Amino acid sequence: MTMSFLPGVHRGKYMRYDTAVILKRFYLCEKMTVIAQAGWLPGIPYFEMKTLLPKILWEDAMTANALRERVFELRFPSRILEVGEDQGLIDLLEYARHAPNALAFLTALSKVLKPAMLRAYETYLELADEIGDGPTYRFMKLAIDEKYQQIETLNQHIDRYAAHEEPAELERAEQWVKELQTHLDRLGGIGLDSPKAAGAELKPGKPFEPLEVPARDQKFCNVRFYWPDNVDPAFPYGSGIQLQLRSAVSHLNEVWAVENAGHVLYSFADELGWEFIYDAARWVYDESRHCRMGYERLKSWGFAEHELPLGTYIYDSCKGQDPIYRLGMLFYFESKNIGKKLDRVKNFESMNDRMSQHDMDFDWADETIHTSYGKKWLSAVLERRGKNPDDYTEIKDVCEQITAKTVQTATPEEIAQIIDIANKIIAKASSL
Ligand SMILES: [Fe+2]
Ligand SMILES: [Fe+2]
Repeated sequence: MTMSFLPGVHRGKYMRYDTAVILKRFYLCEKMTVIAQAGWLPGIPYFEMKTLLPKILWEDAMTANALRERVFELRFPSRILEVGEDQGLIDLLEYARHAPNALAFLTALSKVLKPAMLRAYETYLELADEIGDGPTYRFMKLAIDEKYQQIETLNQHIDRYAAHEEPAELERAEQWVKELQTHLDRLGGIGLDSPKAAGAELKPGKPFEPLEVPARDQKFCNVRFYWPDNVDPAFPYGSGIQLQLRSAVSHLNEVWAVENAGHVLYSFADELGWEFIYDAARWVYDESRHCRMGYERLKSWGFAEHELPLGTYIYDSCKGQDPIYRLGMLFYFESKNIGKKLDRVKNFESMNDRMSQHDMDFDWADETIHTSYGKKWLSAVLERRGKNPDDYTEIKDVCEQITAKTVQTATPEEIAQIIDIANKIIAKASSL
């Protein structure tokens, strides 16, 4: 007599192990994309993208983290996330860092890499089982929504940038993006099956490096020192209107912190691993929100971009230095005013400036998180280098020295220029 069984045809395409293998691939792809986006932040001149890409990379980091946790659940008790057969995709995503210009990188994101992830997630959800693999559904649906939104945001801005780009640069970007797509197609895309092995063409000669001199948007007033007190401690921080302006210009100038946090994420990604990347992604995003806070306030008071100084001196001070000092810079410069922030909140409240009050209040909450990131990761790097993880004295000293050195290079023309810019801003605001 033959045995007969109940059929099992409707669900069960992927078993637990297959699911973990696929989600691990998606995690690795998201992680590589987060690192690439962070590394490009200093190299992107366009102000909107410099402050929007951080949100995009933070979303990707949130998705990557959810994927990673899910893989651990499915593979319990193993916590190994091997690259294994996904090496081809890792090679491709590393290759994608070597875009010939910022427009090419952003176009690669919007036309090749983000759509590939989006398709991968949509295909996964079509075939996976919502009962057995329910927890994956929630975050992957969110990731799909975010990817659609990211692509829309990127396309909106890219079209505008392309219209102003040199034809030769535009051509280079288009050509390179086409090649990237061909390489991805050759690997079989990002999907539910393992990619094919990458050929030698995906092995760039030297590793990508984030820019040490940040690219900046020409529509702003680009300077090294963004307010007279950077170079002249006698110039008052001020009260009333002057304090409102100084605070907004400070926030806007956290653009250096966005670039620097991107650089730091990129530089320590391999050494410190995923948990660091995850914290740093949030750090980058927060600094971009602080930058936008200042920008939006100044715009609402009637200032145009060309009137607004965007400085580089803190970022510049780290040029050629070990990236540990960039991490130190982010920690010290961002946390040194934390005690004053709550006073400022009260100050703005008394001026009835709810916008500045609100921004400073939220900024304060972010800064308390950043202080813990700074301590945690500075200690981790120091420990890895065989130093006392609780002693930041040397880091702090070097950060102060290199910044002071940059300040000493301010020319009389630069000082006169920033005093003039600040005075014009104050005069315009006073006449409103
Ligand atoms: Fe900040
Ligand atoms: Fe911060």
